[in-house]
Amino acid sequence: MQKLEIKTAFSAYASEDELPTSDQQLLTAARNVLQNAYAPYSNFQVAAAALLSNGETVTSTNYENASYPISVCAEHSALIAAANRFPESAVIAVAITVLNPAQNIDRPALPCGSCRQVICETERKNGNAMKVILQGETGEIYIFEKGNDMLPLAFDGSYL
Ligand code: THU
Repeated sequence: MQKLEIKTAFSAYASEDELPTSDQQLLTAARNVLQNAYAPYSNFQVAAAALLSNGETVTSTNYENASYPISVCAEHSALIAAANRFPESAVIAVAITVLNPAQNIDRPALPCGSCRQVICETERKNGNAMKVILQGETGEIYIFEKGNDMLPLAFDGSYL
């Protein structure tokens, strides 16, 4: 028997001022569309902004449904929108932010497992790593350099 360990890493920044300008701008782009979130059931608004290799930014928000399980997460929606608007471009970074009217979220909201899987799939499809930039309504910022740093041992197309 062999016991194996997985190590992963991410960076934590105390404030936006510490971030490179392009990361700050991407977070702002996400924050600017929060009001488009369609979240009448959870009231939890999520926005994502994807920066593409052609310099374009594509944003989206969560889109809930009365049939709860078919609700779509913001980052999932943003990555699909990016792939359709600019099919030749890779996503090089995605910023995700949230707003909960019931409480100040003062820490980054981490993407759900399905969205981590979608991030990994998009990286594999595009052949490049995607930086993931996370901030709550306020507080510190987490940056993951690639999807697998958030989802080690991910399933992927190599099995199929
Ligand atoms: N949500 C996202 O948009 N992204 C995530 O990674 C986690 C959750 C949305 C789904 C639902 O509309 C609301 O947040 C509450 O779960």
